[in-house]
Amino acid sequence: TPRVFSGIKPSGGLTLGNYLGAIKRWVNMQGPDFETVYCVVDLHAITVWQDPAELRHATREVAAGMLASGIDPEKSILFNQAQVPAHAELAWLFNCVARLGWMNRMTQFKEKAGKNAEKQSLGLYAYPSLMAADILLYHATHVPVGEDQKQHVELTRDIAQKFNHDYGVDFFPLTEPVIEGPGMRVMNLRDGSKKMSKSGESDMERINMTDDADTIAKKLRKARTDPEELPVSFDGLKNRPEAKNLVEIYAALADITPDSVLNEYGGEGWGKFKPALADLAVEKLAPISTEMKRLLDTPDEIDAILARGAEKAEAIANPILERTFDIMGFVRSR
Ligand code: TYM
Repeated sequence: TPRVFSGIKPSGGLTLGNYLGAIKRWVNMQGPDFETVYCVVDLHAITVWQDPAELRHATREVAAGMLASGIDPEKSILFNQAQVPAHAELAWLFNCVARLGWMNRMTQFKEKAGKNAEKQSLGLYAYPSLMAADILLYHATHVPVGEDQKQHVELTRDIAQKFNHDYGVDFFPLTEPVIEGPGMRVMNLRDGSKKMSKSGESDMERINMTDDADTIAKKLRKARTDPEELPVSFDGLKNRPEAKNLVEIYAALADITPDSVLNEYGGEGWGKFKPALADLAVEKLAPISTEMKRLLDTPDEIDAILARGAEKAEAIANPILERTFDIMGFVRSR
């Protein structure tokens, strides 16, 4: 069976973007078609400063968000990266495969570093090489991610290809990003040109998975829109980023196409659509946030799940790492 790998950074709380672009789809991929491996990528989080107490909390909170959304530790391997040293080890090997020119093309680094590239950590620059290690350590072929991670998954293919070519092997598989359906790029609720992120300045611009029903409804009611009514087809939303975003969020939450949303709401104004969207979002998200809070009351149980997951992850990862060392010519006789 093909293997799925994906991860989320515990660099703050989870957003609706993480849910629609990643977690919700991860839940759906569990089952007989795939072996699923999901990771809280704490080593990636520290590429920018993380307060230790906050990192510890966020790691458990992200795990709780996955569990509350329906990631089942009996069906999936769920663990945090720092408990499987093979990730950091393979990342080093890949640092010596990846080329500086490839890293220089990464748009996420450029966005995050801005004009201050000199002040960023070396880890932030090497980030995609660790991500390639995450994926290839499991010989994963399918990587469900939001739109913003596409370039990193493509770089993973480049690393696999160069490794296979340089060492004359057919060892690492070529990975496919799985990016389909609405919700692959959820935008900021106050500015439709920016993506919704954990770290945006104002809390009103995002929906957090820990928000309660009133907060979710308030944020959607206040979401920026335009004065026009909704068009009857998705094409009609071309130059209306805020409107497009809300329609896509509705479609993703309801598991229908944006066109069927507009079948129902085309010709209507925001006064009708926004309350409907708020009701839908509360219906889908409030049970998750309630369950997250319940899980976070017993962090020991979350830790135990992550520890068991890490053991299962190592059973796959360690032999692949060992074979990689062997292919590259390292002497490791103990
Ligand atoms: P991260 O932690 O930024 O985000 C986790 C997942 O959520 C998706 N996502 C979004 N999708 C739609 N709209 C949004 N506004 C939005 N914001 C976030 C991301 O695309 C991602 O799928 N580098 C990765 C973590 C990672 C990883 C991996 C992913 C590390 N190793 C291996 C896949 C495979 C990241 O920073 O995701």
